[in-house]
Amino acid sequence: MRIDVLTLFPKMFDGFLSESIMGKAIENKLVEINIINFREFSKNKHKKVDDSPYGGGAGMVLSVVPVYEALISIKGYEEALKIIVTPQGVTFKQETAYELSSTSHIIILCGHYEGFDERIRDLFDMEISIGDFVLTGGEIAAMALIDAITRVMPNVISKNESHLNDSFSNNLLEHPHYTRPSEFMGKKVPDVLVSGNHKLIEEWRKNESIKRTKERRKDLYDKFRKEQGNE
Ligand code: ADE
Repeated sequence: MRIDVLTLFPKMFDGFLSESIMGKAIENKLVEINIINFREFSKNKHKKVDDSPYGGGAGMVLSVVPVYEALISIKGYEEALKIIVTPQGVTFKQETAYELSSTSHIIILCGHYEGFDERIRDLFDMEISIGDFVLTGGEIAAMALIDAITRVMPNVISKNESHLNDSFSNNLLEHPHYTRPSEFMGKKVPDVLVSGNHKLIEEWRKNESIKRTKERRKDLYDKFRKEQGNE
């Protein structure tokens, strides 16, 4: 998979792309990520990429021209899945991460300023939001997408694709986890987990997962019940 990111703040991606699982996935060539500063595509002598809004009003608007020029400079841009991250997009879900993980080429535009020139939208295939809050720019949203997509790609997380038991993968939140010490400040690890009985452990985990989802995420719990045919 190749991901091109159009941003005005390329340095924001430095740590993200070099550390931990993302760093390893890139090093192992499971994903290739190119960060493109689209300011370089501005035709303006001061490299301006924004302008005041037609009709007046506060704030600046991202111009269509530098975005378009940067986009068409990307080899294979026509076939790529082109995404804008914006608070107005469809909410990103774990299932979207799975769906996008089999795409061969994704281009992500990170917006800034008060808004986009509406004609930018026409150059892209979809808009994604990472939640009902407003960030100062799209970079953190783009990183969230890239991270969630990359970690479900084959061979990125070893240990038998451990993401398959993640929260949300079956409309359930994950069960609680414990590790040593077996007792901490009077709180003990549940007996079943040290019983060595794998069938009972599986059962306990499933039940805890259901209980936790019911308590914390009634919306997910209802979906889970529906899928089980228990509605
Ligand atoms: N840009 C600013 N806020 C955002 C959000 N919530 N999701 C995606 N992109 C954004």
